Amino acid sequence: MSTVGTAAVILSLVAVAAPALAGDPEYGAYLASECFACHPKGQPVGPMPPLHLLPRDYIVQALREYRAGTRDNLAMSLVARNLSDEDIESLADYFQVMSAQLGGR
Ligand code: HEC
Repeated sequence: MSTVGTAAVILSLVAVAAPALAGDPEYGAYLASECFACHPKGQPVGPMPPLHLLPRDYIVQALREYRAGTRDNLAMSLVARNLSDEDIESLADYFQVMSAQLGGR
């Protein structure tokens, strides 16, 4: 393979392995199935607000703080410690899409 060809292959592999940090709402939907074990989906039920009613930035910040341990909740710390920055962005994007669909916020 030529050097140029090899470089092109390497570049395309890097592009696949490191997607831009913007979220992917479809991936967020997949991740969010876990959230609905505790958070209501759709209309408010009980004390916890449905996630799609929270502002996007608020969700991102809350998840980062739970992950870092600077915001205290055992359940959420256990959930958030497995989330990458990309996961968090994708979740926030998904809840934003859901908000637009359900007419929240
Ligand atoms: C095991 C139950 C559980 C699961 C699963 C769970 N949460 Fe939570 N979540 C909680 C609890 C409990 C709180 C704390 C509510 C409070 O502090 O009043 C919370 C709080 C939050 C908050 C802050 C809400 C606020 O009003 O400040 C966000 C954002 C959040 N969760 C997002 C998520 C996301 C996204 C997922 C899925 C990746 C998720 N949670 C999965 C139980 C859960």
